[in-house]
Amino acid sequence: MANPAQRVNKLFVQTFGTNADDLYLAPGRVNLIGEHTDYNDGFVLPAAINFHTIIAVRNRDDDLFRAVSSAFPGKLYTWHFGQEGQMNPDQAWVNYLKGFTAAMAASGLKTKGMDLAVVGDVPVGAGLSSSAALEIAFGTAINDSNQLRLSPLAVAQIAQRGENQFVGYCGGIMDQMISALGMQDHALLIDCEDLDSEPVSIPESLSLIIVNSNVARGQVEAEYQKRRQECEFVADHFGIETLRHLELPALEAAQDQLPEVNYRRARHVLTENRRTQHAAHALQDGNISKLSELMAQSHASMRDDFDISTPEIDTLVEIIHQVVGDKGGVRMTGRGFGGCVVALVDHDLTDAVVDAVEQQYQAKTGIEATVYLCSASDGASRMDDEIYDL
Ligand code: GLA
Repeated sequence: MANPAQRVNKLFVQTFGTNADDLYLAPGRVNLIGEHTDYNDGFVLPAAINFHTIIAVRNRDDDLFRAVSSAFPGKLYTWHFGQEGQMNPDQAWVNYLKGFTAAMAASGLKTKGMDLAVVGDVPVGAGLSSSAALEIAFGTAINDSNQLRLSPLAVAQIAQRGENQFVGYCGGIMDQMISALGMQDHALLIDCEDLDSEPVSIPESLSLIIVNSNVARGQVEAEYQKRRQECEFVADHFGIETLRHLELPALEAAQDQLPEVNYRRARHVLTENRRTQHAAHALQDGNISKLSELMAQSHASMRDDFDISTPEIDTLVEIIHQVVGDKGGVRMTGRGFGGCVVALVDHDLTDAVVDAVEQQYQAKTGIEATVYLCSASDGASRMDDEIYDL
């Protein structure tokens, strides 16, 4: 089978009748710990993964964009820079690109148009940020080919603004930042208040395993926004902008004045921020038993305080935890209500984890899981040579 670079170039030639100038790629992501903390100005610890969106581009002299995706070959979408119109629910993936150019235009940035073709292998709808990979591959292509000299962080911020304002999904900054700034063999400890980030090396002895529960995620967007509002309610109660600088004793002292649900939501965020910072140290120090404990606590907090797990996900976490004990960590990852679990486990245990999932998950839940053996990857970039190897 052709490699992704060959496939995207073929799609480009078939669609536009000429070769592309360049290829750009951006990764999906998995969050190791720090869930629902980014929009509370807290800490997250994601890694970019070796699943990518790849875009072949050719610059144009006018302001027209023409885009095709291997998921919908033969369907060409066009728009002019600064004239993106409204989000169109029937154009799913193109909205993310239009959101990016709309956010550029709103910030007073300019760019020429381009023809582009998209292929990718980031699983869609699994909670591994295929949309951020698409936005960041596109943003990196625009930035590089127009020599705009935007930093990867600035590209991530424009992408997030596009997604918030054009697509209408109010996520935090984590997904775009890690897709833009990821580092091979490292996770990134991101402080979402000042957007500082620090690479944290993942010990060579550990395998990064992602298991998709294949649970349908239901009303996940509505639930996500509800969680945001529940957190904001507590910040308002204390007269502060976000939960970042609220201390646990102050929250505990106010327990009687807060609705029970909001109290638990804030307790998750405050304790998760602390766990995330400790997990970064544990990972850096190779202290796997500490990491294991923190990931287990994080999962319990998502399940009991933030109410974003599902029985199937809890089962999956339990199956893996039984195998790895304190020789690795496992927890649900991402927005919740289904999606994936992430496990960082001693290499020697990888086969045992995969076997246990295959033997027990379907028997217990009636659903088949999908296992992805991953590695932590670099963030978005131009692909140097591949295009010439065709
Ligand atoms: C989604 C959002 C992120 C983050 C996570 C939860 O992936 O896009 O910004 O809030 O959920 O941690």
